Amino acid sequence: MNEIDEVKARLDIVDIVSSTVTLRKSGKNYSGFCPFHSNTKTPSFVVFPETQTWRCFGACAEGGDIFSFVMKRDGADFKDVLEDLARQAGVQLRAPSPQSEEEDKQRQKLLELNAAAADYFHKLLTAAPEGAQTRKYLATRELTSDTIALFQLGYAKDEWEALKRHFLDRGYTTDELLAAGLIVERDDGSPGYDRFRNRLIIPIRDARGRVIGFGARALAADQMPKYLNSPQSVLFDKSATLYGLDLAKKHIRQVDRVVIVEGYMDVIQAHQHGAQNVVAQMGTALTEQQLKILKRTTGNFVLALDADTAGNSATLRGINIAREALDRETVPVPTARGLIRYESRLNADIRIATLPPGKDPDDILKDGLEAWQKIIDAAVPVIDFYFQTVTRNLDLNTAKDKSAAVHNLIPVLRDIGDPVEQQHYIQKLARLIQVDERTLIAEMKRQPKQPVPRRKPTVMPPVSLAQQPASPATTAPKFNNTLADSGLETYCLSLVVAHPPALAAANDILEQQQMDGLGVNDFNRGSNKDIFRAMQLWTAADNPQVSTLVDMVGESLAGQLLSLANFWQNRPPIPTETIYKDLSIAILRLRLHNVGEQIKELRFLQREAVENNNFESARHYTAKVKEYSQYRKKLEHTRDALSITGKRRTEAVL
Ligand code: GTP
Ligand code: MN
Repeated sequence: MNEIDEVKARLDIVDIVSSTVTLRKSGKNYSGFCPFHSNTKTPSFVVFPETQTWRCFGACAEGGDIFSFVMKRDGADFKDVLEDLARQAGVQLRAPSPQSEEEDKQRQKLLELNAAAADYFHKLLTAAPEGAQTRKYLATRELTSDTIALFQLGYAKDEWEALKRHFLDRGYTTDELLAAGLIVERDDGSPGYDRFRNRLIIPIRDARGRVIGFGARALAADQMPKYLNSPQSVLFDKSATLYGLDLAKKHIRQVDRVVIVEGYMDVIQAHQHGAQNVVAQMGTALTEQQLKILKRTTGNFVLALDADTAGNSATLRGINIAREALDRETVPVPTARGLIRYESRLNADIRIATLPPGKDPDDILKDGLEAWQKIIDAAVPVIDFYFQTVTRNLDLNTAKDKSAAVHNLIPVLRDIGDPVEQQHYIQKLARLIQVDERTLIAEMKRQPKQPVPRRKPTVMPPVSLAQQPASPATTAPKFNNTLADSGLETYCLSLVVAHPPALAAANDILEQQQMDGLGVNDFNRGSNKDIFRAMQLWTAADNPQVSTLVDMVGESLAGQLLSLANFWQNRPPIPTETIYKDLSIAILRLRLHNVGEQIKELRFLQREAVENNNFESARHYTAKVKEYSQYRKKLEHTRDALSITGKRRTEAVL
């Protein structure tokens, strides 16, 4: 048994769910109000102890295993949930090497120290006489005591060794204080003094809410710099951190959009006013790494740039150096071109909201959530933003400025991945400067795009029936135990691993049939959800290698991924020309399987309700069965349509 199964075997989903959701036993199962959507009258959320799965039959129509429940509840990724649940289950995740064990201990110790320091600063702010000035300052910034507590804001005394003495007295060592960046070594190498003095302290947390560093704002007018941050450390990597993500991630997932601002204080104010999907990029330029972290939760980004940054020539100057930089590991964003390339590569929607001149989000939010929401809703796609910025200071009636516009915009147009979209913007530019489209197209062709290395089409090993994952039909208790993995999840994922372009192609086929493409919610297993999420980015890359995908999903899922990659090793190949159709049909079968299970569950619930004389619920479930059955018909119809045009063989295989 691998560690994931071990954790599942030791924990009971009913315990885990009922720690945050009130469940009522009804028959064999448990039901309650769905924690994931605001509720009406019917308890649409059901937990099935037999299969250790859950499902919402209401608005979210989602379900899955114990992992996917906690992932959704906490807005966390699989790795973090595995760690948490393994701890609860008493399962040791992979035997650590002595070296990593030592490192782990050190990290643990530093985390502890950081947590203690945050607490120390916070107490000074809220309870010590020395904190009075800063309390007043925060009042002028209109932060409530709830907000101060939520973000655990603090105060660092105006002394050289206050923190140092405090922690040395409590058994910490100078080395530890140095490693955490809380004290600074003197030039002569002697023990050192407090890094943060007379500053407002803002603890910086990782996505799981652990304090990994501090931002410290000046309080006196002549104090430089305005912000002093913890140095890079084993815990703190600025380029991979987003301020506020621990609090925001759940909301980002809920509204499927993240808003990225520039300042700590902006995030704090946003949360105080109920704009909870807001994070900050930590002063540095937004990094690709940060965007990738966010991409795990949403594909919709809004960058709220203040008017200075947005209009800043530096944002544009990036164009000329962007090309060479783009070939490096990290795409510098937000140069507009970096963003556009990034957008098409990662299949993200990036928009820019420009704030009114002289205002930052903090100011706007003080006017209320509505004013903020209006600005965010008015965000424009990054290409439109780029058009606006490039043309703002040009006189497009003059030949010289027309040429400047073309010169600046052509490289951007070239980077647009989607041909329809590209055409749209070529037209837009043509209209704008009143030049024939063909001239622009010729211009675009003049410096051709750098060639993308061509990949040889993969020849898939053929499939044979015997080696297919256990067919659901062979196991059939009440609801067969396969709800969490019918084998079809594995099948779909393994096809994509073996042949990355198949995902987009199969989705196209489905879209032609008015069906959604394969989505995270088609998967029940939490681990598969995360693997699939990573795959969506991965298949969009120029030359996706399995090793890259392994890096993306992380160690906890590497084993599972490798077995997906090996899935086809001992199986006969599918001819390349039918892979796309094969995958699209497999996706439909996965959905058919899921909806079939759901209908069985609903019928069961309906019977139970009748037995308990709960006729209102019974009627509700009957209506649901009808709704799901209609959806099933549609799926069957589409599957048949595809199977007729496709190869019969596909039918036989699955
Ligand atoms: P307030 O001015 O108090 O509203 O803070 P703010 O968070 O809005 O900061 P501001 O808009 O001035 O700057 C945006 C972000 O850039 C800050 O949150 C910091 O992360 C970073 N930053 C600003 N000034 C400095 C500085 O002097 N040093 C460093 N390292 N970062 C800074
Ligand atoms: Mn500010």
